[in-house]
Amino acid sequence: MNQEAARPKILLFGAGSVGAVYLWLLSKVSDTTAVCRSNYEVVKQNGFSINSSIFGQNIRFKPEVVRDCEEAASGKPYDFIVVCSKAIPGLVPRLIAPVVTVNRTSIVLIQNGVGMEQEYIDAFPGISVVSAVVYLPATQRPSGVVKHGEVELLQLGAFPSSSSPEPAKAFAELINSAGGTAEFYEDVQLKRWSKLLVNASWNPMCALTLSKDTCILESCDEASDVVHAVMMEIRTIANAYGYTITKEQVEHQLGRAQARIPISAGIEPSMLQDVQSGRRIEVEAIVGNAVRMGRAKGVRCDRLEMLYILAKTLDLHIGKA
Ligand SMILES: NC(=O)c1ccc[n+]([C@@H]2O[C@H](COP(=O)([O-])OP(=O)(O)OC[C@H]3O[C@@H](n4cnc5c(N)ncnc54)[C@H](OP(=O)(O)O)[C@@H]3O)[C@@H](O)[C@H]2O)c1
Repeated sequence: MNQEAARPKILLFGAGSVGAVYLWLLSKVSDTTAVCRSNYEVVKQNGFSINSSIFGQNIRFKPEVVRDCEEAASGKPYDFIVVCSKAIPGLVPRLIAPVVTVNRTSIVLIQNGVGMEQEYIDAFPGISVVSAVVYLPATQRPSGVVKHGEVELLQLGAFPSSSSPEPAKAFAELINSAGGTAEFYEDVQLKRWSKLLVNASWNPMCALTLSKDTCILESCDEASDVVHAVMMEIRTIANAYGYTITKEQVEHQLGRAQARIPISAGIEPSMLQDVQSGRRIEVEAIVGNAVRMGRAKGVRCDRLEMLYILAKTLDLHIGKA
């Protein structure tokens, strides 16, 4: 088999900041195509430009781009469909259906949250789903120009963890061979919950208050204790599913934000940035699914539930605008 024939075919759905960085990495070791929406014209004409603290400045590359999955279907079959859109339920499985080839395609979800994998399993019974937790601070502004900070890490595994690990291992190998960092886990859900400890607490609180995390902590004497209590609720839900999050992890994550106060280095989580830009928020993947999972196990999570209802209302308001 010659080298060219052995290259896997990959379709990216969601050519935002995270998607663009992984598209660039994957294009070194596979044949890639990207579904672009608002950035279609600019990427088609000029490609992406990436300024990365890790990979280098002014990286330019011009990927194959299409407007939608119907157009991408002429390039079938794909080995991997990499979903890097925001995790907003109810739409993407239907949109990618034309490019999913049963017994060939694996779907890789590079997204925040928990429980977002299930709708892909429901839509495509028997399909391999690779669940990937991503640490990669990045923004795309203006269209086609991506700024990437000092971390790049994918923690991935099969969903459910009892299914074949081979697609996840193969995808991790591709990322690593391209110069990225991917870690394979037999059960990646512990990593999802570890990240959710930060995301499900700070994201809705900052989005609802239009404030950085440090501003919330400085707002009143009660704030630190309440943030701590929210994190403890997330910990209790994770623990009810057998994913051990320790009290020390909670203290550590809260301490990270507290340590930023004296240096005025508060964080604006993605949900806050989305609200400020009038974009829908990942409220179900990041908060709602955790609340429902807690309820299913009889875990009381009153503070998290209140954050969910308020953030959900905000999301519906944004959706109507
Ligand atoms: N960025 C970070 O720093 C970061 C860090 C860690 C984790 N994450 C997670 O990684 C995931 C991706 O985040 P991101 O920041 O890369 O998001 P993003 O910049 O908002 O990019 C999402 C992309 O998906 C596209 N998209 C959405 N719906 C589409 C549709 N129906 N058809 C075609 N394209 C569509 C968007 O197109 P439009 O431009 O047209 O809307 C956009 O290009 C999220 O789950 C996020 O929470 C992000």
